[in-house]
Amino acid sequence: MARPGHSAWPLLAGVLLLAASAAGQSQNCQSASFQNGRAFQQCNNMAVLGATLHWTYHAANGTADIAFRAPQQSSGWVAWGINTQGSGMAGSSVFIVSQDSAGAVSVLTTVLEGTSPSLTSGSLRFNVPGAPTAAYANGEYTMFATIALPNNSTTQNTVWQAGPGNTGAIAPHTTSGPNVLSMQRLDFLSGQSTGASNSRLHRRNIHGVLNAVSWGILIPLGAMIARYLRVFEAADPAWFYLHITCQLSGYILGVAGWGLGLKLGSESKGITYDAHRNIGIAIFCLATLQVFALLLRPDKKNKYRLYWNIYHHSVGYSAIVLSAVNIFKGLDILKPASGWKKSYIAILATLGGVALFLEAITWVIVLRRKKSDKSYGATNGNGRVV
Ligand code: HEM
Ligand SMILES: *[C@@H]1O[C@H](CO)[C@@H](O)[C@H](O)[C@H]1NC(C)=O
Ligand SMILES: *[C@@H]1O[C@H](CO)[C@@H](O)[C@H](O)[C@H]1NC(C)=O
Ligand SMILES: *[C@@H]1O[C@H](CO)[C@@H](O)[C@H](O)[C@H]1NC(C)=O
Repeated sequence: MARPGHSAWPLLAGVLLLAASAAGQSQNCQSASFQNGRAFQQCNNMAVLGATLHWTYHAANGTADIAFRAPQQSSGWVAWGINTQGSGMAGSSVFIVSQDSAGAVSVLTTVLEGTSPSLTSGSLRFNVPGAPTAAYANGEYTMFATIALPNNSTTQNTVWQAGPGNTGAIAPHTTSGPNVLSMQRLDFLSGQSTGASNSRLHRRNIHGVLNAVSWGILIPLGAMIARYLRVFEAADPAWFYLHITCQLSGYILGVAGWGLGLKLGSESKGITYDAHRNIGIAIFCLATLQVFALLLRPDKKNKYRLYWNIYHHSVGYSAIVLSAVNIFKGLDILKPASGWKKSYIAILATLGGVALFLEAITWVIVLRRKKSDKSYGATNGNGRVV
């Protein structure tokens, strides 16, 4: 027998490659230039929000001259800071850059006392010799400041952010997707950064791709193979092996993606996505049931086979519908570039369109067969439309 499952792997590899390249896309801070011929010795491409940090560290007095640059609409704000108390937003000493309706750019320094900060201007928990300045050009804010690294330590927990506003007001930023990944530990001496953000963002992308490919593409494809290929007598029993290959590889990849999702969920303390998590668990249960039900499948001629078929189809279709719903929920949480949602919609529409077309053909074939052979539908499972 042919090894039909192999046809799915090039597709899978393609999708994974695409995802990896999209996740690895980043700006290059080294080519940045600054007003008045300013230059900095080191720079760092931050993992999210398109931001970069540029600095020159002075070991002699423990200070760093920094430039923070981040893209934003002119009505919005961007911010950068150091958390001297721990990591994350709460407790950070930050520089918030925004502009008023006349285009005058200003820098507000404040210590964020929590996740509903009052944002009143004040001094930071480290020394800032000289007044910070900022400018807005080409859709980017750039902020210049000199800071005395807290505790005279070159390694700091840094945070950055971008949010909306109107005419100088600082409105709350989004609290999902890249906006809650914008923190990293940065060594001002070596330039090395280790982010919760880098690895977490990377694992979130892997979780998304694994689940979208498995539950979102392979499993519906396998269901379509079962439903539409078996009408053709020549495709028996090849359709069955194709179906099983699609579903089993989908299940294995899907369970890996699901496990990674649970791990990611258990790691984030503040935020929980209940609906996404519960639907994910339901999908896993339904799919696992399907795998084990395969072992209990009655013989084709057994009178219970009809009930088994009805059960198998209803559980299968429920899992597929829930998967599509959950992939959209996941896309809303991850907020990748809008192209990803569009691509998934295009894939769904293609699968749906092909299914609709094949559904029509199947009915035509089955009805024709019934006409020519009255006993066909009752005695042979093939071509049955449940
Ligand atoms: C405008 C007022 C702001 C409000 C109401 C606000 C609110 C929040 C909320 C609710 C979270 C999610 C926390 C969680 O779920 O555990 C968060 C996260 C975060 N915020 Fe803000 N924020 C504001 C301004 C800022 C500013 C100015 C920065 C400057 C860098 C910032 C940086 C961050 C970072 C890095 C995170 C993710 C890490 C963490 O959860 O601590 N936020 N914010
Ligand atoms: C920080 O450390 C450097 C040596 O590593 C020292 O020369 C400098 O005086 C220190 N600065 C402060 C503010 O303690
Ligand atoms: C720190 O040292 C650098 C060069 O060594 C110097 O240019 C700068 O003015 C000093 N900053 C402060 C605040 O002393
Ligand atoms: C400064 O460093 C010392 C030892 O390295 C540490 O015990 C202390 O907590 C630090 N202080 C701050 C504000 O980080």
